[in-house]
Amino acid sequence: MLRFKLQTLLRVIPVLFLSLSLHPQFRFVNAQLPTGTETSTPLNTAIVQAGKKYLGDMSDFPELNDEQYLGTLKTPGLFGQMTPGNSMKWDATEPTRGQFTFSNGDAIVAIADSAGQIMRGHTCVWHNQLPSWVSSGGFSAEELTEIVEEHVKGVVGHWAGKMRNLLTQTPISDSWDVVNEAFNDNGTMRESVFYTTIGEGYIATAFNTARAADPNAKLYINDYNIEGTSAKSTAMINLVKSLKSQGVPIDGIGLQGHFILGQIPNTLVQNMQAMTALGVEVAFTEVDIRVELPETEETREQQKADFNKVVEACMQVEGCVGVTLGGFTDKYSWVPGTFPGFGAALIYDEEYVAKPAYDGIVDAIKGKSD
Ligand code: XIL
Repeated sequence: MLRFKLQTLLRVIPVLFLSLSLHPQFRFVNAQLPTGTETSTPLNTAIVQAGKKYLGDMSDFPELNDEQYLGTLKTPGLFGQMTPGNSMKWDATEPTRGQFTFSNGDAIVAIADSAGQIMRGHTCVWHNQLPSWVSSGGFSAEELTEIVEEHVKGVVGHWAGKMRNLLTQTPISDSWDVVNEAFNDNGTMRESVFYTTIGEGYIATAFNTARAADPNAKLYINDYNIEGTSAKSTAMINLVKSLKSQGVPIDGIGLQGHFILGQIPNTLVQNMQAMTALGVEVAFTEVDIRVELPETEETREQQKADFNKVVEACMQVEGCVGVTLGGFTDKYSWVPGTFPGFGAALIYDEEYVAKPAYDGIVDAIKGKSD
């Protein structure tokens, strides 16, 4: 009798332990997951040595108020560039027509400057985070064109003078995402208020206005699902070709790079080469690689290979100037809130411990595939 019970117990205990340990709520699981080992190689220093302009990240408030976050962000040589996640968007900068608020964006520029980082302005004309006075204003094409001009001039013009190093007065403004997410996934134009009211011409208007407001910034059109060859990336290529033939000032195509684990396209290099052949530069602008939770040893290894593949593609394309991550710690990633069941998309976990993905980037910079 006693022997029977003991045997049952012996069988039940490991099963219980295993199922508990797989539960994401239990912290000690994380301790068992593999972590990064190459963290003594700061990413930006390495990528600059390898001939690129930057390895950066997207940051904003509230995380920029978190001391631990700032500590990692400012690790010497780790990140050389910053894109504000929200503070330069339309709802943040012109919540009411003609009334501009730049304070959070200014604060971010000051932090980037103190960390020795260059800036990517993000973003002027986008259908999201757009105040309802614009989206539901019922404007004529002429009025809305004026509104786009006022907005782009106001925002790009403001930071054209301000994104400079306080001591040296050298510009730290590198580029601007002038137009964001203009396409549907099938390659047709997204029916934003700008497109439905003005037509495709809103894009040329935005770029012409941005160039006049800041002649030094590289002007980008930015989108997702255009990283590999696809109907959408073909549409982007055709648009940029047409803009350039009309003399519209456009300098770059931003590939957001919001990927799913294990689903990195095999055509990144080929696609980016087709883009740079048009005479524009390209950059990965918001890279994250989301994992269906919970993370396991296998997902971490796959993520290492995936980050390696993305950065390696940039290394292989001469006109790919840099890589910006869509944040760096899972603690503040937008992924879990937007894609239920997914997370862990970045290179540091929520405790600021580097993951194997960090090593994947280092390997790519050093020319090694994972
Ligand atoms: C995200 C921000 O990270 C979030 O904080 C915000 O709530 C929603 O927008 N494409 C973009 C980014 O160009 O600006 C978006 O950023 C993610 C998708």
